[in-house]
Amino acid sequence: MRVLILHSDIAPGAPPDEQDTLVQANAIATALNGRGHRAVTAPFVADPARLAALAAEADVLFNLVESVDGSGFKAAEAAALFFSTLGIPCTGSPASALVLTGDKPESKRRLAAAGLATPAWAMPPDWQGLRDDLPYIVKSAREDASIGLDDGAVLTGRGAIIARAAASAAAYGGLWFAEEYLTGREFNVALLDEAGVPIVLPIAEMRFADWPSDRPRIVGYRAKWDEASFEARKTVRDFSWASREPELNAALHALATQAWALFGLGGYARVDLRCRADGTPTILEVNTNPCLSPDAGFAAAAEQQGYAYAGLVERVVAAAHTPAQSAVRGRSGAD
Ligand SMILES: Nc1ncnc2c1ncn2[C@@H]1O[C@H](COP(=O)(O)OP(=O)(O)O)[C@@H](O)[C@H]1O
Ligand SMILES: [Mg+2]
Repeated sequence: MRVLILHSDIAPGAPPDEQDTLVQANAIATALNGRGHRAVTAPFVADPARLAALAAEADVLFNLVESVDGSGFKAAEAAALFFSTLGIPCTGSPASALVLTGDKPESKRRLAAAGLATPAWAMPPDWQGLRDDLPYIVKSAREDASIGLDDGAVLTGRGAIIARAAASAAAYGGLWFAEEYLTGREFNVALLDEAGVPIVLPIAEMRFADWPSDRPRIVGYRAKWDEASFEARKTVRDFSWASREPELNAALHALATQAWALFGLGGYARVDLRCRADGTPTILEVNTNPCLSPDAGFAAAAEQQGYAYAGLVERVVAAAHTPAQSAVRGRSGAD
């Protein structure tokens, strides 16, 4: 198989969350070439003629474009605008799902309308529904990778929340909103399309080990991108809980597969969930094209299922679909 791995066009010296697209691209190319495929990597540029020339040499497009001009949301638009015209199957979710899940408040609105639990939230400019007696986490509507998330993101009180949202918008751009901060356990559900059906891989609990009681329990920017930090060392993935808690496992499984159907996801995806204080699970966000680097959560879940990294990558390629197929799949999934 000739595989064109398209990644974000990253400037040298970009922060680690952006460099990650290159880490993934190289690991995936190495894995596929080791299995006898012919994989090449290239940065995404919004040039239809150049893309068409690259695609003419490939059987499958491996989509690792996470940002365009520094914007995560533009990556979804790029997929919508360009990939559908290339005429070759593309890994991951169809462009429609990238767009729908790329906007957190909008995807929460859809989840809530479909009866899938998600924490309460409030948006600028009117912050309707914001309560003064509950803690909130202020997060970006359209960026991911825990951008702008540190202890200061969790706060109580309208004035403090609005000030934080304004400061984060000034620092990172885009719209920032407030979401009810849930103190319960956190889970990541990795899903993989096998023959058109989303398979739920073993579910990881994110445990906060030795965590100071006065600090918010969040997987913030340092936990994800600064390996040596306290936050990274003390947020620990655990798969052992599931056999002891089959009901919770089934509830997480159901929420994640319902989210898959709701958004018409494809290929592979990861749903991040968090429990309320009473233990009820809710959906924080749906990640299309979640990180596929060998040390990230998706590969860890696949390994628990018995899929070595190269095998996982081959499965993602095997699940690649043409835009026409994904349109049909999206419709049937939403039924
Ligand atoms: N409502 C919430 N309550 C508690 N923790 C949250 C909440 N929203 C986000 N977090 C914490 O912040 C992390 C990142 O938030 P998430 O919504 O998954 O955004 P992303 O991963 O796209 O940056 C989560 O893994 C979780 O630890
Ligand atoms: Mg997340």
